[in-house]
Amino acid sequence: MPKVCVIIPTYNEAGTIGELLDRLESLGLELQVVVVDDGSDDGTIEIVEEASRRYGNIILVERGVKLGLGSALRDGLRKGVELGAELLVTMDADLSHDPLELPKLVDEGTPHRIVLGSRYVEGGCIVGWGLYRRLVSWGANFLARLLTGVPSRDSTTGFRCYGAEVVKAVLPHVRGIGYEFQVEVLSVAQRMGFEIVEVPITFMDRRMGRSKLGFGEMWRFLRILLRIFFESGEMGRALKFIAVGLSGLLVNEAVIWLLTEVAGLYYLISGVISAEVSIVNNFIWNNYWTFSDRGGGGLLARFVRFNLARVFGMALGLLLLKLFTDLLGLHYLVSNVFAILIVFIFNYLLSFFWVWRRPLGDSRGIHIARRG
Ligand code: GDD
Ligand code: MN
Repeated sequence: MPKVCVIIPTYNEAGTIGELLDRLESLGLELQVVVVDDGSDDGTIEIVEEASRRYGNIILVERGVKLGLGSALRDGLRKGVELGAELLVTMDADLSHDPLELPKLVDEGTPHRIVLGSRYVEGGCIVGWGLYRRLVSWGANFLARLLTGVPSRDSTTGFRCYGAEVVKAVLPHVRGIGYEFQVEVLSVAQRMGFEIVEVPITFMDRRMGRSKLGFGEMWRFLRILLRIFFESGEMGRALKFIAVGLSGLLVNEAVIWLLTEVAGLYYLISGVISAEVSIVNNFIWNNYWTFSDRGGGGLLARFVRFNLARVFGMALGLLLLKLFTDLLGLHYLVSNVFAILIVFIFNYLLSFFWVWRRPLGDSRGIHIARRG
């Protein structure tokens, strides 16, 4: 059994922290527990101190003021490594994460791996969240996948098992102090070549106290995602996609001219052929350059999907042109500019999430464990 340290950030969790500590102790595992508190004034501290006296393996780190979830996790992880832990489990204090699922995460843990307790892989679920929280979480994970290139389904989960080597290597490069910390850690870990694995968990909404996730947190989350977009190379990917699109335009023009002027074809026939030639051009460049690190099915399957994506894009473009012009009363040239921009984004999304839907094998150290 590796040395395991459990890190629990708390900010006013008196309603649940005592029960959580009791439940962790009753697992019968040899655990070290570190609670990182940010100046709770509801009795949390007293409850933790009392449990610490009773069990003897609980350390309370008191920071006195609210410095943020990410910052608390960072301090806790550092402390755990200092104490010689090989695996470091983080979990929320509000009983949203079930201690009974801790062994499942620890079982998958290795020094060079992050195990995510995932709500969004097969077997995972959320109990008690309304539509609003589900949408926020879905949006956050969608943007995280698109802008950071981290393929995990649940990049924002707080229930995790970090290998000590990952913590040592990654923490110095992570700046986030709030909820954005969760995604930033994964992005840095992925770039350093560490493995990220997901196991399903059941997330239960808190029944006591209130969530600390406010608009300020969401705004900071978005800002950090954009920074990661620049730093991770995902912006480079988007720029490549634009360059390829422009090359396709040139190819299209050149071929339609050649076929019509030199080969003497009727220009509409030339147009059909040149359109498909430009699709082939774009596919090759995207496959071997823009998305060279991603795949999804065989080459032919990707090519068919890429063609379909183009058809959907054209249909959407025409629909938008009609809507903007007739319903909004815009000049058709103006409508067309908006339609082209939206279709471009649509094409990129389809390429990213559908045509080249996943990273190539385990070559970048990612795999998803599907375990019940
Ligand atoms: N020390 C400290 N300082 N702890 C904090 C702070 C802080 O500034 N902010 C929040 N916490 C603690 C809470 O006391 C709780 O134990 C845990 O962090 C999670 O906070 P919640 O307020 O319960 O967050 P949530 O339930 O809305 O968010 C959950 O889902 C998010 C993704 O959907 C958490 O699991 C997040 O980690 C996760 O990103
Ligand atoms: Mn919570």
